[in-house]
This record gives sequence, C-alpha cells and structure tokens, in this order.
Amino acid sequence: MQDLIFDSTSDSMTQKFAKKLAKHLKQGDCLALIGDFGAGKTTFVKGLAKGLRIGCDQYVSSPSFVILKVYQGKLPLYHFDLYRLSHLKDFDDIGLDEFLSGRGVSVVEWADRTENLHIPWGLRIEFIVSGQSSRRLKLYGRSARLKKILKNIKL
Ligand SMILES: Nc1ncnc2c1ncn2[C@@H]1O[C@H](COP(=O)(O)OP(=O)(O)OP(=O)(O)O)[C@@H](O)[C@H]1O
Ligand SMILES: [Mg+2]
Repeated sequence: MQDLIFDSTSDSMTQKFAKKLAKHLKQGDCLALIGDFGAGKTTFVKGLAKGLRIGCDQYVSSPSFVILKVYQGKLPLYHFDLYRLSHLKDFDDIGLDEFLSGRGVSVVEWADRTENLHIPWGLRIEFIVSGQSSRRLKLYGRSARLKKILKNIKL
C-alpha cells in the first residue's frame, strides 16, 4: 500500500509538490522514480532542485546520456538516469553507494530498469500517466521518518 497518492493536473503542480517535499529531505536520502517515458520523472526532479535551492543557472534535464548529473544547492543533488544501463549487475558499477554515503540527496530515474539492481530507496515514487496533462504519483516511504513526511505534507 502506498503512503500517499498525489494527483497532478499540470507540469507546474508536479514541480510544486516536489519542491515542497524537497524541503524535508536530508543528506543520504535516496528517491527511486518509476514510470514510463514522459510520465513526469524529470519534471519532478526540476521541482526537487528548486526546493533544494539549486540555481536556475544549473539547468535540470534528463541525464539519459550521461548517467549522472550533480547539482549544487542547499544540499547537493545527485540525479541518475538508468534507462541506458540495463546491462548493469549491481550498483557498484555506477558508484551509487558512494553517493548515498555522501553529502547530498540522490534521485534515480528508471530505478526499476535493471532487475538485479536493488536501489536502496527511502522514497519510492511511481508515476502513472492518467491523461494528457494529468499524472498520478504513488509514494511509498521506507522509514518511519519518510512515512511521516508523506503523511504530514500539505497538498
Ligand atoms: N501533470 C504533469 N506532471 C508532469 N509532467 C507533465 C504533466 N502534464 C504534462 N506533463 C508533461 O509531460 C512531460 C513529462 O516529461 P519528463 O521528461 O518529466 O518525463 P520522464 O518521466 O522524465 O520521461 P523519460 O523517461 O523520457 O526521461 C513533459 O513534457 C511535461 O510538460
Ligand atoms: Mg526523464
């Protein structure tokens, strides 16, 4: 069972929600984003970046061709996209481990792309396309702290 369902009706609504959530995140938090092409994962990361006070000069886009982008804000944001990495056997290959023990927040698009890659997520978010400009986000928190954040977030 998910801890929260968020129904978004626009790009900016998804970003605002992510921005709000970002303010509660801490060093070492890892977010796994699951969903089809165009489901809104990168849009969500743009909102996270705003919430972490990452300047607009650091343009957030899908890092599909580079695996990882790092943005500097209140906390660093490590933005992974595993779409092209279906051959990976474990996340030692991308060094996610190192980032999780680092100073920032990690967010992983296509976290379910490789079966054997068990992303140690704290927050799992499934993006479902429910209409041309509507998206349903299902959020799951692993720890008591993250579950509580989802429970108390003001929508
Ligand atoms: N409610 C909404 N929330 C988020 N994006 C929306 C919404 N409505 C429409 N969109 C549009 O859907 C697209 C989402 O693209 P985005 O790059 O965020 O998806 P993605 O899940 O990262 O895809 P990919 O797997 O290809 O990286 C954008 O063009 C965005 O403007
Ligand atoms: Mg993307």
